[in-house]
Amino acid sequence: MTNTSDKSNKKKDDPTGLHKGLTSYGDSGFSLFLRKAFVKGAGFTDNALDRPVIGIANTGSAFNPCHGNMPQLIEAVKRGVMLAGGLPMDFPTISIHESFASPTSMYLRNLMSMDTEEMIRAQPMDAVILIGGCDKTVPAQLMGAASAGIPAIQLVTGSMLTGSYRSERVGACTDCRRFWGKYRADEINDQEIAEVNNQLVASVGTCSVMGTASTMACVAEALGMMVPGGASPPAVTADRIRVAERTGATAVAMALSGLTPDKIMTVKAFENALRVLLAIGGSTNGVIHLTAIAGRLGIDLSLDRLDALGRETPVLIDLKPSGQFYMEDFHAAGGLHALLRELKPLLHLDTMTVTGRTLGEELESAGPGFPQAVVRSFSDPIYPQGGIAVLRGNLAPDGAIIKQSAANPDLMEHEGRAVVFENIEDLVLRIDDDALDVKADDVLVLKHIGPTGASMPEAGYIPIPKKLARAGVKDMVRVSDGRMSGTAGGTIVLHVTPESAIGGPLAYVRNGDRIRLSVKKREISLLVSDEELARRVLESPVMRPTAPRGYRHLFLKTVTQADKGVDFDFLRPSDI
Ligand code: FES
Repeated sequence: MTNTSDKSNKKKDDPTGLHKGLTSYGDSGFSLFLRKAFVKGAGFTDNALDRPVIGIANTGSAFNPCHGNMPQLIEAVKRGVMLAGGLPMDFPTISIHESFASPTSMYLRNLMSMDTEEMIRAQPMDAVILIGGCDKTVPAQLMGAASAGIPAIQLVTGSMLTGSYRSERVGACTDCRRFWGKYRADEINDQEIAEVNNQLVASVGTCSVMGTASTMACVAEALGMMVPGGASPPAVTADRIRVAERTGATAVAMALSGLTPDKIMTVKAFENALRVLLAIGGSTNGVIHLTAIAGRLGIDLSLDRLDALGRETPVLIDLKPSGQFYMEDFHAAGGLHALLRELKPLLHLDTMTVTGRTLGEELESAGPGFPQAVVRSFSDPIYPQGGIAVLRGNLAPDGAIIKQSAANPDLMEHEGRAVVFENIEDLVLRIDDDALDVKADDVLVLKHIGPTGASMPEAGYIPIPKKLARAGVKDMVRVSDGRMSGTAGGTIVLHVTPESAIGGPLAYVRNGDRIRLSVKKREISLLVSDEELARRVLESPVMRPTAPRGYRHLFLKTVTQADKGVDFDFLRPSDI
């Protein structure tokens, strides 16, 4: 029978191909006979069925334009598998798009990871190719594959092309937010914003800046889970199709050698991935996702380690939202290899990759770099430290983060009066009210958008109140227990842990309290005494939300906090 235990490694007598994971009829010979009869109904020959079976997780969906090139990728992946002597079998799983998932894509990431893991376990395959792209899909697939334990390789759909609005280059979604801010401030009118809307997404593929999708693509390559050079080719290019073909061929070799995710995604590999996350000015969401993926393998990523790495890892990529370029420019500049060459002294070069060679060997064979403007050298960084800093204090005893590379330097040492919104509904109701008592140097606080509070939506990018936006205010200190899109920027404190919905200190912040942010000291503090806070806890105790049934019941009962990756507690190995 199939060995489906966590982190299984291939043994000599383990069943392979169609012999794996037979359906339980109490007669294994009959089970195989029946399976073959059915698959032959689709026209397969015994010759084809005797080959290593390579599963392909197909996340194509009309609701997911970021995966709009899925048919071409699957065709190329299959070609690669067959050229290498394998049998490709694609199968559907859940697909999640950021703008088509309600209430938020984060609510569904763990469900997709469970779907991915269980379909890998349930169906006979010797290796699996995971095709994802949009923000939550790659983390979900890597989490699922890490738990399933068979050889696995990541392919991403690739970034979209940039568009042009009145001769200005634009791309989702940093420019989406920039233009929407202008619209809110009455700087552009209805017709202009409609024209912008037509240009922001110029093709299928993932967001064209260093948002969460691009971040996870780079991080997956740095982890060693993707063919070298696989992160950067845009969705509609020949390079992307060639990466897909190489992915197919590599998966067959992995099936034969039994190269499982636990041999690739080691503690050292996660450190490499964190270095890359910091050096690309990557999405804050990358921290949560990497923590969740590592957690599936029994590896605890600590925020303190992230911060320590950040102090010695500068931001070197000049991409929006921290810089000026787009993903297609990064690809033209040599992609991730150009960055890894610069980071080489800081990397563990002996980590394994899907090719069966180490990161150092792959880097060596990629050859020398060439002059380009997107990847900076150590002596000329975009930002002298890593993109993300970890904050602590009585407002976030278990940590919070800020994307310092995309924050306003004038606000990073700031003390201000709290203007509190109790939840998203309260925010929507009052943020643009001209009667709102708010000034530019106040601190906007949004509660109840943490994991259990609201499935952690990307609402941490609290809009600037309209009356201040009209007066020219572009940024304010904002604090919440939610997330922010990787494409957004501003002086925004996120992932405050523990969250307000389970009684974290954020729950007890009141209008008029003073809040101090010091990125230099890594501090986020509520300037209220312990005695007063204890009094507020007694006065208005917080009840953890529950749901009577279904997936929401499971979610609210078992979801962990941001510092544990917002995974379900029962999906992490039981020994950590
Ligand atoms: Fe899919 Fe941005 S919405 S990557």
